[in-house]
Amino acid sequence: MRISDEYLEELRQRNDIVDVVSSYVQLRGSGRYSMGLCPFHNERTPSFAVYSDTQSFFCFGCSKGGDVITFIRDIENLDYREAVQFLAERCGMPQPQEGFDDSMAKLRRQIYEANREAGRFYHAALWRPEGKAGLDYFRARGLTDATIRHFGLGYAPDRWDSLLKHLRSKGYPDSVLLAADLAKHTKNGGVIDAFRNRVMFPIIDVRGNLIAFGGRVLDDSKPKYLNTSDTPVYKKSNGVFALNFAKIKNPGRLILCEGYMDVIAYHQAGFTEAVAGLGTAFTREQAKLLSGYCEEIILSYDADGPGQTAAEKAIALLGETDLRVRVALLDGGKDPDEIIRTQGVEKMRSIIDGAVSAQEFQLRRATGGVDKTTDQGRVEYLHKACEVIADMRDIIGADVYISRLAQETGVTREAIKAQVDQLRRRRRRRQEQARAAQAANFSTDRADAVRLRQLAAVRAEETLLGILMREPGVYKRVRDQVRPEWFVSDADRLIYERVAARLDAGQDVNLSLLGQDLTADETAHLSRLTADRARLANTADECLDAVAVMRKEYDKRRRESLDLSSLSAEEFRKLFVDPDKHA
Ligand code: UTP
Ligand code: MN
Repeated sequence: MRISDEYLEELRQRNDIVDVVSSYVQLRGSGRYSMGLCPFHNERTPSFAVYSDTQSFFCFGCSKGGDVITFIRDIENLDYREAVQFLAERCGMPQPQEGFDDSMAKLRRQIYEANREAGRFYHAALWRPEGKAGLDYFRARGLTDATIRHFGLGYAPDRWDSLLKHLRSKGYPDSVLLAADLAKHTKNGGVIDAFRNRVMFPIIDVRGNLIAFGGRVLDDSKPKYLNTSDTPVYKKSNGVFALNFAKIKNPGRLILCEGYMDVIAYHQAGFTEAVAGLGTAFTREQAKLLSGYCEEIILSYDADGPGQTAAEKAIALLGETDLRVRVALLDGGKDPDEIIRTQGVEKMRSIIDGAVSAQEFQLRRATGGVDKTTDQGRVEYLHKACEVIADMRDIIGADVYISRLAQETGVTREAIKAQVDQLRRRRRRRQEQARAAQAANFSTDRADAVRLRQLAAVRAEETLLGILMREPGVYKRVRDQVRPEWFVSDADRLIYERVAARLDAGQDVNLSLLGQDLTADETAHLSRLTADRARLANTADECLDAVAVMRKEYDKRRRESLDLSSLSAEEFRKLFVDPDKHA
């Protein structure tokens, strides 16, 4: 069932986008638009714009955009209807009752409950005879019973359907268990437990919801870990293991590890500030999540090759936040779990205390294999070191490293400084070019060849849509001219048709009203178009110009694709002599 226009209109009026966004983002500026740091990606300079006149937002950094409903949907991680409910509650409006479909919210609740029940089941199984293999496994890895209980660790029995039977008996339908990824389909259509004969690590979010599981084999078979895939309550890319248990230590630090067992070993040894990203690669979302909880991250990744490469990537992502990053230097190809077990807590503590800055770590890594005894080696060493230094954001810190490098190599400080400056300039130039390309709205990844070739046409149709959103009154002047086939982009054509249909029917247009019929990408796109046109002065003329360009570009495309000699005299005349009249 659809929500009525009247309802959405009132919702929109009672939830001013500037007010709503302000409770999440600090906005500066007043009047038509204000700017702030984008809540959807990490940034240091504001590129997130909120427009009061069109009641829309758009981020020039990450291209997210939309109206107040999509803002709430994205920031609160809700679906469209839940976002409407959220805003209704916020402004004290009655919920849109009629035919309101809250099946998604209901499914989420059921998944949380099923997960919790599954967590209890796995944990209980550990203490039963059938769970002995699991309990033995944890004990053999040095975990105490208290630790096992604290983390709610468990065991998935070595049977096809033990969890299924249990949850079915509690009244959970298979559909919920499948959606929770606790069960899965077999090839011939049956349903079986997703986790079998594995020790189980429940993943709990900071609100205390059990959102997912990791399950490890008891031997060396593969895959070593199975993890819950994305479900309606869980996105792998933003889960952090043990953040719910982590006691943030002064000065606001967290220890970031690679694995479940590392975290648990750390906690058992008293380092209760240890957490881990989930799955193998650390993500931007996880970096962002952590930056909300602490000021400093101590990276504690495995000392092997993959671990160090992963650390390098994590440093890059954490570098986009305002977190301070240090790296614990674990030696001997070991992970923290092993170090604690074989070398003791005090050794681990000294490694943590001796963690070096991210810059130092990168310098060491970049120059690790270089032979500094030969001239050639020293040159290579200097070049690599300068690259790392040029990347440092902290200018004073960078200066310290320059002096140190000069001392170490005997090359003058000035020469090193000159090299670093040159690299910095080159880097800045590259950044500026990238930004300029983005501003001109053909960032390299989106600039498919077609789009570039048809830039004029694309600009024109975007201008048309942007103006219609801001000044629907202009529509009557162009309605009889514009032809759907003139649009280069299918998305633009579709949006135009939606807009035109509403205006033809005497209805209003704005992002909230159109949002119901557009995908998230289309809404973001339209929001950008609307934002981009904020600077146009004489809208009616601009609009007519845009329409003229669209027609001209369309004709050009036709001419290029038509074999002119095959045209009838009449078609030929239409095409060149009287372009206004042809279809
Ligand atoms: P590791 O292979 O380093 O495992 O993977 P580990 O944590 O040291 O495990 P133990 O000590 O052998 O028990 C690090 C992390 O990468 C993820 C898991 O989160 C794991 O803890 N991983 C690894 C997977 O998700 N799937 C895999 O198959 C392997
Ligand atoms: Mn390990």
